[in-house]
Amino acid sequence: MCGIVGYIGSKEAYPILINGLKRLEYRGYDSAGISLLDNQIKIYKCQGKVSRLESFVTSRDISGSVGIGHTRWATHGEPNDVNAHPHRSMNGKFVVIHNGIIENYARLKEKLSSRGYTFASETDTEVLANLIEYIYLKGKLSADIAVRLALTKVIGAYGLVIMCVDEPDKLIAARKGSPLVIGVGEGEYFVASDATPIVEHTKSVIYLNDDDVAVISRDELVLKNLKNVPQTPVVHTVDLDIGEIDKNGFDHFMLKEIFEQPRSILDTFRGRVSGDKKEIHLGGLYQVMNRLQESQRIIMVGCGTSWHAALVGEYLFEDFARIPVEVEYASEFRYRNPLITKKDVVIAISQSGETADTLAAIRLAREKGALVLGICNVVGSSIPRETNGGVYTHAGPEIGVASTKAFTAQVTVLTMMALLLGYRRKTLSKANYQRMVNELTLIPEKIERILETNGKYRDIAALYKDANNFLYLGRGYFFPVALEGALKLKEISYIHAEGYPAAEMKHGPIALIDKNMPVVVIATKDKSYDKIVSNIQEVKARNGVVIAVVTEGDTVIREMADHVLEVPSTEVPLAPLTTVVPLQLLSYYIAVLRGCNVDQPRNLAKSVTVE
Ligand code: G6P
Repeated sequence: MCGIVGYIGSKEAYPILINGLKRLEYRGYDSAGISLLDNQIKIYKCQGKVSRLESFVTSRDISGSVGIGHTRWATHGEPNDVNAHPHRSMNGKFVVIHNGIIENYARLKEKLSSRGYTFASETDTEVLANLIEYIYLKGKLSADIAVRLALTKVIGAYGLVIMCVDEPDKLIAARKGSPLVIGVGEGEYFVASDATPIVEHTKSVIYLNDDDVAVISRDELVLKNLKNVPQTPVVHTVDLDIGEIDKNGFDHFMLKEIFEQPRSILDTFRGRVSGDKKEIHLGGLYQVMNRLQESQRIIMVGCGTSWHAALVGEYLFEDFARIPVEVEYASEFRYRNPLITKKDVVIAISQSGETADTLAAIRLAREKGALVLGICNVVGSSIPRETNGGVYTHAGPEIGVASTKAFTAQVTVLTMMALLLGYRRKTLSKANYQRMVNELTLIPEKIERILETNGKYRDIAALYKDANNFLYLGRGYFFPVALEGALKLKEISYIHAEGYPAAEMKHGPIALIDKNMPVVVIATKDKSYDKIVSNIQEVKARNGVVIAVVTEGDTVIREMADHVLEVPSTEVPLAPLTTVVPLQLLSYYIAVLRGCNVDQPRNLAKSVTVE
């Protein structure tokens, strides 16, 4: 949520900043802005996307080898030119970009107003810029000390990069709650919300911790915490290929990411499933395996699509490992005084590893003594750093705001964990364990086969793109898949869609069914097959339109449904991995045909670092 970039070195900063902003645009696209520090501070900013900013700066002075840039997801103040970042302090000493929320900004603003400060924007960030400047001027301090003192007065979350006109060869970066990564080059440094804008310049990065303040000049980085205690920067090497963050010929990142799933699932189990396909090893769980194995209850927390993955996890863990699982929205869990004991295991699921509610939920669980594990995609992000153990999904960077490959990678990890636990707890026989592990290795190829039928999805999408409502139905393992299908559609096409357990249809949604509401039913072969066939008939009896996801070769449903989308047969617990793919493709094509911005749907953002 909000993307931040900064550069200091000997090159021209503008191209680095603008490319960086394009990489980070998935974090918000309400407005974009840059500031360059030459002999003077120049700020260019406007409402809308980074491409608009590019046109806006044409024929303006964009020289300078120190600069910062921001792409915004609006919190305080509507998305307009004035509220766009960077924000300059009233006397022009400081320029600030910020990701996060300053919760006590109203009180700080009042105090600053009483001391003569005026504000151009409605943002909390401008308040912070002015607070820093007030302290700086009043105390005649250096810029970094003023920043540090100002931050001790701030309640809330921030990832910040700050420039001071009096100290032009310096960037100051600070973090609390919102991520910041510093790239270390030769005589140059880069700052960004994540590593994607940095990797094309350097693979050496430092992840800032909460309360870190970095003072960065061309040849030196000094890291201290808010109490002015020196911190030792740890330099990591990022393993990220630049090709992974380009569209590679696809029209949209979302389509590219849907098509990447055979590979991302393979990458997620590669090295974890033994060569003979008979065993699973999860290195990130070694230290905690005994405690996990003996747990009496597992609580899974997440938001959005990650919450849906957790629901699939509930079925998997209860089926294979016979451990009771509760799935919670992280935002509800953290605020409802949950009963957590030292015997509990809490598993946080998050693509970004930065979602504010999920992060707060794990902090609460740790405080109460639970074992806390993470399933995250972004290496080095906050959640993996604050958990007792966990398993990374190896989906690669997910840029499309609507999550696709991260979901299937999360479900792959949950499947491996549930199988391993079931085997170790002896609730899953060796034969079944090995059969399932082997079947998991066949999933990438089965998804390839679904993707080959891609053309069909566009045709069906064309028929229903103007519908106002969709209903998604599934039973058992496919209920969470139905929820995920509905979420995908509403996120990117703005069509209202609801996911329901198929049997619940008769307790309400059936009243809505008519020829104008397509009903998408996940109806692959499992023990509820006959029941789902009855549900389809109930829909058809009311003139409903049925789009059914079926097992390859199914002839029964083909007779009843208006359209069938075939998926190869697999073990039922693994079928969420295959059945979700047709739903992703259907949503994608409907959104494209409606002319929606698939990768950057309105009002949404990835990496939600605000509550
Ligand atoms: C946002 C994104 C969703 C994502 C959710 C949770 O709402 O748009 O795609 O599922 O956040 O994000 P996380 O990074 O924690 O998985």
